Amino acid sequence: MNNAPITYPVIAIDGPAASGKSTVGRLLAEELDFLFLDTGFMYRAVTLAGLRAGIDLRDETAVTALSAQLNLDVQPAGKNEDGRHYTALLNGEDVTWALRTPEIDANVSLVSSYPGVRQEMVKRQRAFGQRGQVVMVGRDIGTVVMPDAPLKLYITASAAERARRRWRDRQQQGHAASFEEILADVKRRDDIDSHREVSPLRPADDAIIIDTTGHTVADIVADIIKKLSVIREP
Ligand code: DC
Repeated sequence: MNNAPITYPVIAIDGPAASGKSTVGRLLAEELDFLFLDTGFMYRAVTLAGLRAGIDLRDETAVTALSAQLNLDVQPAGKNEDGRHYTALLNGEDVTWALRTPEIDANVSLVSSYPGVRQEMVKRQRAFGQRGQVVMVGRDIGTVVMPDAPLKLYITASAAERARRRWRDRQQQGHAASFEEILADVKRRDDIDSHREVSPLRPADDAIIIDTTGHTVADIVADIIKKLSVIREP
């Protein structure tokens, strides 16, 4: 890898659930010494806050009002050696693992479909983006949040492969769920995420599409770094 200064203040990565985009994004950020921002944590945190507050998550007005009141932040994983990619803070509390439960998975697509919630989260994501040197991962980063990002990647994999990965994660976290249930959930979330009215999941017109089915994360990251250095040539 050459050591010329990176002229890519924001790298936008989008893709469906469990496509490997977060793992790839985190490693890429590490490699480039960029901040890693997994924007899904924000929608998960709104969902968690709503559940804790006993709000009916179908109540769009209440969920939207709540989303504007939350203090959301991320910190590097630091000394935590529990497999986290970063530390997610909700009103100052470490909620990293509380955001990864099946209950949050089951409700987050609904919460993230609310235009008012999205507007609030996009505003916060852009503020992170303006700090520069960020690898930002989500569903609408290249299309809506950071449409001017100089490098946009759309990372995908077959539904079966994504369900296998999620199943493995669940096993490691001690949540029992059958592969069939997880596959059905992956497909259900794909359907909601790509058919919602506001900012549906889709690649930006100028995104590079990367299918991770059958490839290791290390290979994919190496490939992206290669693309970066090619693009970086004067
Ligand atoms: O990437 P994830 O599984 O943590 O995302 C959780 C949910 O949030 C998922 O239903 C899609 C939604 N999301 C979104 O709509 N836009 C983003 N930029 C990030 C996540």
